[in-house]
Amino acid sequence: MIEKINALIAEVDGLTASGSEEIEALRIKFLSKKGVINALMNDFRSVPAEEKHIVGQRLNALKNKAQEKINTLKEATLNKVDNEEFIDLTRTSYPYRVGTRHPISIIKREICDIFARLGYSIAEGPEIEDDWHVFTSLNFADDHPARDMQDTFFISHGEDMLLRTHTSSVQTRIMENNQPPIRIICPGRVYRNEAISYRAHCFFHQVEALYVDKDVSFADLQQTLLLFSREMFGQDTKIRLRPSFFPFTEPSAEMDISCNLCGGKGCPFCKHTGWVEILGCGMVDPNVLENCNIDSKVYSGFALGMGIERITNLKYQVKDLRLFSENDIRFLRQFETAL
Ligand code: DAH
Repeated sequence: MIEKINALIAEVDGLTASGSEEIEALRIKFLSKKGVINALMNDFRSVPAEEKHIVGQRLNALKNKAQEKINTLKEATLNKVDNEEFIDLTRTSYPYRVGTRHPISIIKREICDIFARLGYSIAEGPEIEDDWHVFTSLNFADDHPARDMQDTFFISHGEDMLLRTHTSSVQTRIMENNQPPIRIICPGRVYRNEAISYRAHCFFHQVEALYVDKDVSFADLQQTLLLFSREMFGQDTKIRLRPSFFPFTEPSAEMDISCNLCGGKGCPFCKHTGWVEILGCGMVDPNVLENCNIDSKVYSGFALGMGIERITNLKYQVKDLRLFSENDIRFLRQFETAL
């Protein structure tokens, strides 16, 4: 019997298995009730008393060894499954997130689309501009505060090159090189020397519109503004024009729309006035036309300019301007469903 046990110990030592089924088969062969070790336990009863001590020791050694070996084999296959083979093909994949349009781009596109439907085409100009296009051609007086370093970022020492403070500079660029009819919409970034806060930034975005032709009147401007406002903010929107001043338009006006949050009844957003200001506009000053070699006795025109951030705030109630340039993904993802 002792030889039999020793042979089995040697066998157990050399056991290998390549999967859980094989291990289970070994467990049944060695350790189950009907296994070889149990059979030996039964035989043990008939072992002569003087041999019982030594045979018993060997038998226990065999039992422990078999148990240990099978446990080791089990552990080895478990690790293997974890590291190499375990790919759960039934799992759903992670949703694939595409990027979103920036809210400023969404609104810019919406504004340009409305004017495109009225026959305007998009025109763009440089952000680094000269004094002529930003100020002088647009009838700014020599001592206008916008020409001050406090308000404008100048680039060159002679102070002729600067970062444009408004997109009105594109008006000049287009009128210098084209004769009427001119119908353009000019979106772009502008810069001003402002301290950054929740309501001001050193750069922001504007859209400028310019229409020059024979017999263009203030009534045309008003109708265009009304149509634009209704398309942008809803068909119930009302507009009102207040007299104002800009060097490049005469007469000039600022336009308010009925507050799109309270419908004009009055709320904290419109400071309980029922109106919110959205743009500046007016009839192109004859001096500006002449500066661009357009005959002001034959042609007239209107221009308007608005801040895209302002319109975006009205649409989406973004209270802090700085959010637009911080690239916080939690802010930007809120516009996933917008166009
Ligand atoms: N350029 C002006 C500004 O930055 C906005 C503006 C006002 C543009 C009146 C216009 C206009 O074309 O007619 O505040």
